[in-house]
Amino acid sequence: MTHHCVTRSLWLAAGLGLAALSAAHADSGRMMPRDMPASYTQECAACHTAYPPAMLPARSWQRIMTGLDQHYGTDASLDAATVNQLNTWLQAHAGTYKRVAEEPPQDRITRSAWFERKHRQIEPATWKLPSVKSAANCAACHAGADRGDYDDDNLQFPAGLSARQRRAWND
Ligand code: HEC
Ligand code: HEC
Repeated sequence: MTHHCVTRSLWLAAGLGLAALSAAHADSGRMMPRDMPASYTQECAACHTAYPPAMLPARSWQRIMTGLDQHYGTDASLDAATVNQLNTWLQAHAGTYKRVAEEPPQDRITRSAWFERKHRQIEPATWKLPSVKSAANCAACHAGADRGDYDDDNLQFPAGLSARQRRAWND
Protein backbone atom coordinates (compact mmCIF):
# COMPACT_ATOMS: atom_id res chain seq x y z
CA MET A 1 0.00 0.00 0.00
CA THR A 2 1.42 3.41 -0.93
CA HIS A 3 0.73 6.83 0.57
CA HIS A 4 -1.42 7.52 -2.41
CA CYS A 5 -3.58 4.59 -1.38
CA VAL A 6 -3.82 5.81 2.18
CA THR A 7 -5.20 9.13 0.98
CA ARG A 8 -7.59 7.30 -1.26
CA SER A 9 -8.71 5.14 1.66
CA LEU A 10 -9.55 8.22 3.67
CA TRP A 11 -11.68 9.49 0.82
CA LEU A 12 -13.41 6.17 0.61
CA ALA A 13 -13.99 6.17 4.32
CA ALA A 14 -15.58 9.60 3.94
CA GLY A 15 -17.89 8.15 1.34
CA LEU A 16 -16.55 10.17 -1.57
CA GLY A 17 -14.75 7.70 -3.58
CA LEU A 18 -15.99 4.62 -5.26
CA ALA A 19 -17.13 1.38 -6.64
CA ALA A 20 -14.97 1.24 -9.72
CA LEU A 21 -11.89 0.91 -7.54
CA SER A 22 -12.82 -2.47 -6.19
CA ALA A 23 -13.56 -3.95 -9.60
CA ALA A 24 -9.91 -4.91 -9.95
CA HIS A 25 -10.02 -6.71 -6.61
CA ALA A 26 -13.42 -8.30 -6.75
CA ASP A 27 -12.22 -11.18 -4.57
CA SER A 28 -12.11 -9.17 -1.37
CA GLY A 29 -13.74 -5.91 -2.42
CA ARG A 30 -17.39 -6.93 -2.58
CA MET A 31 -18.05 -9.79 -0.28
CA MET A 32 -21.60 -9.05 0.81
CA PRO A 33 -24.09 -10.76 -1.54
CA ARG A 34 -26.64 -8.41 -3.09
CA ASP A 35 -29.57 -10.43 -1.81
CA MET A 36 -28.70 -9.76 1.84
CA PRO A 37 -31.89 -9.66 3.95
CA ALA A 38 -32.38 -6.42 5.91
CA SER A 39 -32.65 -8.52 9.06
CA TYR A 40 -28.99 -9.52 8.69
CA THR A 41 -27.69 -6.04 9.45
CA GLN A 42 -30.48 -5.39 11.93
CA GLU A 43 -29.89 -8.55 13.95
CA CYS A 44 -26.31 -9.57 13.26
CA ALA A 45 -24.55 -6.21 13.11
CA ALA A 46 -25.86 -4.89 16.42
CA CYS A 47 -22.82 -6.09 18.37
CA HIS A 48 -20.19 -6.47 15.63
CA THR A 49 -19.58 -6.24 11.88
CA ALA A 50 -22.03 -8.08 9.62
CA TYR A 51 -19.63 -10.83 8.58
CA PRO A 52 -19.78 -11.97 4.94
CA PRO A 53 -21.31 -15.47 4.65
CA ALA A 54 -18.50 -16.44 2.27
CA MET A 55 -16.02 -16.44 5.15
CA LEU A 56 -17.32 -19.52 7.00
CA PRO A 57 -18.31 -22.97 5.75
CA ALA A 58 -21.97 -24.01 5.84
CA ARG A 59 -21.57 -26.25 8.91
CA SER A 60 -20.10 -23.41 10.95
CA TRP A 61 -23.02 -21.09 10.12
CA GLN A 62 -25.41 -23.92 10.92
CA ARG A 63 -23.91 -24.32 14.40
CA ILE A 64 -23.88 -20.57 14.97
CA MET A 65 -27.53 -20.21 13.95
CA THR A 66 -28.67 -23.11 16.12
CA GLY A 67 -26.76 -21.89 19.17
CA LEU A 68 -27.64 -18.19 19.32
CA ASP A 69 -28.77 -18.43 22.95
CA GLN A 70 -25.14 -19.18 23.86
CA HIS A 71 -23.32 -17.03 21.36
CA TYR A 72 -19.67 -16.39 22.31
CA GLY A 73 -20.63 -15.65 25.90
CA THR A 74 -23.76 -13.67 25.09
CA ASP A 75 -27.41 -14.29 24.24
CA ALA A 76 -28.18 -13.41 20.62
CA SER A 77 -31.46 -15.33 20.36
CA LEU A 78 -33.94 -14.47 17.61
CA ASP A 79 -37.44 -15.66 16.71
CA ALA A 80 -37.56 -18.90 14.74
CA ALA A 81 -38.73 -17.28 11.49
CA THR A 82 -35.80 -14.85 11.42
CA VAL A 83 -33.34 -17.60 12.32
CA ASN A 84 -34.70 -19.64 9.41
CA GLN A 85 -34.54 -16.80 6.94
CA LEU A 86 -30.98 -15.85 7.88
CA ASN A 87 -29.75 -19.42 8.05
CA THR A 88 -31.11 -20.20 4.57
CA TRP A 89 -29.33 -17.15 3.17
CA LEU A 90 -26.08 -17.88 5.04
CA GLN A 91 -26.09 -21.49 3.82
CA ALA A 92 -26.65 -20.37 0.22
CA HIS A 93 -23.52 -18.20 0.23
CA ALA A 94 -21.38 -20.09 2.74
CA GLY A 95 -17.76 -20.89 2.09
CA THR A 96 -17.45 -19.10 -1.23
CA TYR A 97 -14.36 -17.05 -0.27
CA LYS A 98 -11.12 -18.61 -1.53
CA ARG A 99 -9.71 -21.40 0.65
CA VAL A 100 -12.62 -21.48 3.08
CA ALA A 101 -13.09 -25.18 3.61
CA GLU A 102 -12.20 -26.22 7.11
CA GLU A 103 -14.51 -25.54 10.04
CA PRO A 104 -12.37 -23.26 12.21
CA PRO A 105 -12.12 -23.67 16.00
CA GLN A 106 -15.21 -22.18 17.73
CA ASP A 107 -16.58 -21.45 14.26
CA ARG A 108 -14.58 -18.25 14.34
CA ILE A 109 -13.56 -16.51 11.12
CA THR A 110 -10.66 -15.14 13.15
CA ARG A 111 -9.38 -18.66 13.87
CA SER A 112 -9.42 -19.79 10.24
CA ALA A 113 -6.11 -20.72 8.63
CA TRP A 114 -6.68 -18.24 5.81
CA PHE A 115 -7.43 -15.47 8.30
CA GLU A 116 -4.26 -16.13 10.26
CA ARG A 117 -2.23 -16.18 7.06
CA LYS A 118 -3.68 -12.92 5.75
CA HIS A 119 -2.98 -11.25 9.10
CA ARG A 120 0.39 -12.83 9.90
CA GLN A 121 2.13 -9.43 9.81
CA ILE A 122 -0.03 -8.05 12.57
CA GLU A 123 1.72 -7.90 15.93
CA PRO A 124 -0.12 -9.42 18.92
CA ALA A 125 -0.18 -6.01 20.65
CA THR A 126 -2.12 -4.53 17.73
CA TRP A 127 -5.14 -6.80 18.33
CA LYS A 128 -5.25 -5.58 21.93
CA LEU A 129 -5.23 -1.84 21.22
CA PRO A 130 -8.23 -0.07 22.80
CA SER A 131 -9.16 1.06 19.28
CA VAL A 132 -9.26 -2.56 18.08
CA LYS A 133 -10.10 -4.75 21.15
CA SER A 134 -10.54 -7.94 19.15
CA ALA A 135 -9.60 -9.46 15.81
CA ALA A 136 -13.36 -9.93 15.34
CA ASN A 137 -13.71 -6.12 15.17
CA CYS A 138 -12.95 -6.00 11.44
CA ALA A 139 -14.11 -2.40 11.02
CA ALA A 140 -11.30 -1.12 13.24
CA CYS A 141 -8.92 -1.65 10.31
CA HIS A 142 -11.13 -2.39 7.29
CA ALA A 143 -12.90 0.89 6.60
CA GLY A 144 -15.40 -0.80 4.29
CA ALA A 145 -16.18 -3.82 6.51
CA ASP A 146 -19.81 -2.80 6.90
CA ARG A 147 -20.20 -3.07 3.13
CA GLY A 148 -18.28 -6.34 2.95
CA ASP A 149 -15.25 -4.54 1.49
CA TYR A 150 -11.98 -6.08 2.70
CA ASP A 151 -9.78 -4.85 -0.10
CA ASP A 152 -6.17 -4.08 0.88
CA ASP A 153 -6.55 -0.59 -0.58
CA ASN A 154 -9.25 0.21 1.90
CA LEU A 155 -7.38 -0.31 5.17
CA GLN A 156 -7.29 2.34 7.87
CA PHE A 157 -4.78 2.62 10.71
CA PRO A 158 -6.49 2.17 14.08
CA ALA A 159 -5.54 4.78 16.70
CA GLY A 160 -2.34 3.89 18.52
CA LEU A 161 -0.86 1.74 15.76
CA SER A 162 2.92 1.55 16.17
CA ALA A 163 5.16 3.28 13.65
CA ARG A 164 6.58 -0.11 12.75
CA GLN A 165 3.15 -1.53 11.97
CA ARG A 166 2.28 1.56 9.93
CA ARG A 167 5.33 0.93 7.80
CA ALA A 168 4.51 -2.75 7.45
CA TRP A 169 0.94 -1.95 6.34
CA ASN A 170 2.31 0.44 3.73
CA ASP A 171 4.31 -2.28 2.00
C1 HEC B 1 -25.86 -9.48 21.65
C2 HEC B 1 -24.67 -9.27 20.81
C3 HEC B 1 -24.52 -10.13 19.56
C4 HEC B 1 -25.42 -10.34 18.55
C5 HEC B 1 -26.85 -9.80 18.43
C6 HEC B 1 -24.76 -11.19 17.58
N1 HEC B 1 -23.47 -11.45 17.99
FE1 HEC B 1 -22.09 -12.54 16.95
N2 HEC B 1 -20.75 -12.24 18.47
C7 HEC B 1 -20.98 -11.54 19.63
C8 HEC B 1 -19.78 -11.55 20.45
C9 HEC B 1 -19.63 -10.87 21.82
C10 HEC B 1 -18.81 -12.27 19.74
C11 HEC B 1 -17.36 -12.52 20.14
C12 HEC B 1 -16.56 -11.31 19.66
C13 HEC B 1 -15.10 -11.33 20.03
O1 HEC B 1 -14.53 -12.40 20.28
O2 HEC B 1 -14.48 -10.24 20.04
C14 HEC B 1 -19.45 -12.69 18.49
C15 HEC B 1 -18.81 -13.42 17.51
C16 HEC B 1 -19.39 -13.83 16.31
C17 HEC B 1 -18.71 -14.59 15.28
C18 HEC B 1 -17.25 -15.05 15.34
C19 HEC B 1 -16.31 -13.87 15.08
C20 HEC B 1 -14.86 -14.33 14.98
O3 HEC B 1 -14.15 -14.28 15.99
O4 HEC B 1 -14.48 -14.76 13.89
C21 HEC B 1 -19.61 -14.82 14.28
C22 HEC B 1 -19.34 -15.55 12.98
C23 HEC B 1 -20.85 -14.19 14.67
N3 HEC B 1 -20.68 -13.59 15.90
C24 HEC B 1 -22.02 -14.21 13.93
C25 HEC B 1 -23.22 -13.63 14.34
C26 HEC B 1 -24.46 -13.74 13.60
C27 HEC B 1 -24.65 -14.50 12.31
C28 HEC B 1 -25.40 -13.02 14.29
C29 HEC B 1 -26.87 -12.83 13.97
C30 HEC B 1 -27.68 -14.03 13.90
C31 HEC B 1 -24.74 -12.46 15.48
N4 HEC B 1 -23.43 -12.87 15.46
C32 HEC B 1 -25.35 -11.66 16.43
C33 HEC B 1 -22.15 -10.89 19.97
C34 HEC B 1 -23.29 -10.84 19.20
C1 HEC C 1 -5.84 -4.81 13.47
C2 HEC C 1 -6.34 -4.54 12.13
C3 HEC C 1 -7.19 -5.59 11.43
C4 HEC C 1 -8.33 -6.21 11.89
C5 HEC C 1 -9.04 -6.01 13.22
C6 HEC C 1 -8.76 -7.09 10.83
N1 HEC C 1 -7.92 -7.00 9.76
FE1 HEC C 1 -8.10 -7.96 7.97
N2 HEC C 1 -6.34 -7.15 7.34
C7 HEC C 1 -5.59 -6.23 8.04
C8 HEC C 1 -4.40 -5.91 7.27
C9 HEC C 1 -3.29 -4.93 7.67
C10 HEC C 1 -4.49 -6.67 6.07
C11 HEC C 1 -3.51 -6.68 4.89
C12 HEC C 1 -2.46 -7.71 5.15
C13 HEC C 1 -1.45 -7.74 4.03
O1 HEC C 1 -1.81 -7.43 2.89
O2 HEC C 1 -0.33 -8.10 4.31
C14 HEC C 1 -5.73 -7.44 6.16
C15 HEC C 1 -6.16 -8.31 5.17
C16 HEC C 1 -7.41 -8.93 5.16
C17 HEC C 1 -7.94 -9.71 4.06
C18 HEC C 1 -7.24 -9.96 2.73
C19 HEC C 1 -7.55 -8.84 1.75
C20 HEC C 1 -6.94 -9.11 0.39
O3 HEC C 1 -7.31 -8.41 -0.56
O4 HEC C 1 -6.09 -10.01 0.28
C21 HEC C 1 -9.18 -10.13 4.42
C22 HEC C 1 -10.18 -10.94 3.60
C23 HEC C 1 -9.42 -9.63 5.77
N3 HEC C 1 -8.31 -8.92 6.18
C24 HEC C 1 -10.56 -9.87 6.49
C25 HEC C 1 -10.75 -9.48 7.83
C26 HEC C 1 -11.94 -9.81 8.61
C27 HEC C 1 -13.12 -10.60 8.09
C28 HEC C 1 -11.74 -9.26 9.84
C29 HEC C 1 -12.65 -9.37 11.05
C30 HEC C 1 -13.18 -10.70 11.36
C31 HEC C 1 -10.44 -8.58 9.83
N4 HEC C 1 -9.87 -8.75 8.59
C32 HEC C 1 -9.89 -7.90 10.90
C33 HEC C 1 -5.88 -5.70 9.27
C34 HEC C 1 -6.94 -6.09 10.08
